[in-house]
Amino acid sequence: MKQPVRIGIVGAGIFGLMHFRTFTQMAKRGDVELVGFAELKDEQRKLRQEEFGVPGFASLGEMIEKAKPEAITIVTPDHTHRPVALEAAAAGMHILTEKPMDVTEEGCKEIIAACEKAGVFLQVDFHKRYDPDHQAAHEAVKAGKVGVPLYGQAHMEDRIEVPIEWFPQWAPNSSPAWFLGVHFFDVIRWIVGSEPVQVFATGSRKYLKEQFGVDTFDCVNAKIDFANGCAFSFDVSWIIPRGFEAVVNQGCRIVGTKGLFEIDTQDRGTRACTDETGMRTYNNNFFREFKDKQGATWYGGYGVESIEDFVYNVQHVKEHGLDSRPAGVWAGGFDGLQATRMAVGAHRSIEEKRVITL
Ligand SMILES: NC(=O)c1ccc[n+]([C@@H]2O[C@H](COP(=O)([O-])OP(=O)(O)OC[C@H]3O[C@@H](n4cnc5c(N)ncnc54)[C@H](O)[C@@H]3O)[C@@H](O)[C@H]2O)c1
Repeated sequence: MKQPVRIGIVGAGIFGLMHFRTFTQMAKRGDVELVGFAELKDEQRKLRQEEFGVPGFASLGEMIEKAKPEAITIVTPDHTHRPVALEAAAAGMHILTEKPMDVTEEGCKEIIAACEKAGVFLQVDFHKRYDPDHQAAHEAVKAGKVGVPLYGQAHMEDRIEVPIEWFPQWAPNSSPAWFLGVHFFDVIRWIVGSEPVQVFATGSRKYLKEQFGVDTFDCVNAKIDFANGCAFSFDVSWIIPRGFEAVVNQGCRIVGTKGLFEIDTQDRGTRACTDETGMRTYNNNFFREFKDKQGATWYGGYGVESIEDFVYNVQHVKEHGLDSRPAGVWAGGFDGLQATRMAVGAHRSIEEKRVITL
């Protein structure tokens, strides 16, 4: 029988909750032992400790020393993944990092090299690859059913409370391209099966700064060309109104010589309206809560599945060695690097007002 993987979480903020829920339910199945978590903020550490009954530590170093995880997941702000990943790799830990892997190309390369040197497994949480609709598009393109992919569009937009209320402290160190864009940069690169070669982008950095004192981009609009000739437009922003029916609005379309795919990944057809919330649409493909026959609560959806997959991948490499690549749709270090190169290129293009070769 497989031994449970000893996991530790680093960063117990808003998205950390998804990691806690996933590992807590995997522990019930015997796949995981959630040995602890590291969180800098005392209040937040106390909250999660009470909620999940898992020991909380003030730093990764303390967690490594006292709880001895064999794998960690990084759910800290975008610009802080690099030092955490390097410390974990040096201590011989397998790593799942939230997207973006790092906000610099050098950082990604350093993380990849450190993981190779330490002989540990590295995965980036690009969960849009686990969305069944994206998988259908990927399979269709791969099988040649869409012909040669020629062009397409993707958009991902968050409601304005994300940069101004969720994390105004670190939104200036991020951008809609880092927080949202990399998701679609990765999944479109994966679907069209080709590497990005150049980017031209424009963007606005005015509204959030002037109206709310949060100095970050309002939107980034990037045109990226791939080596196979496919030309893609990406529109990402985090300024859509509070009244919008979900926190995120997103979708994509891909047009090829023999077919097309149009995917509305925000509205999966479930709508609701209450006096309390107003009109809402639900993306149950991403995350859903349900009860089993005994009334116990479980979580599902691609947001959970990609984190679960990390555990299965770690089990695989523990059994077969790092050279035996686990099957599946997961994104590794090179995928993380490529998405980062696209985002870095987009920001450079805005700054230098020219096409950037990737
Ligand atoms: N996959 C997704 O769809 C998705 C969704 C939301 C966020 N994210 C990513 O998850 C990451 C976290 O986002 P969030 O919304 O949870 O942010 P957050 O600010 O709510 O939480 C981050 C937490 O990390 C803690 N932290 C920072 N540095 C730390 C360190 N060195 N050691 C321990 N704790 C540390 C902070 O105190 C904070 O509580 C970001 O990279 C974000 O892009 C991914």
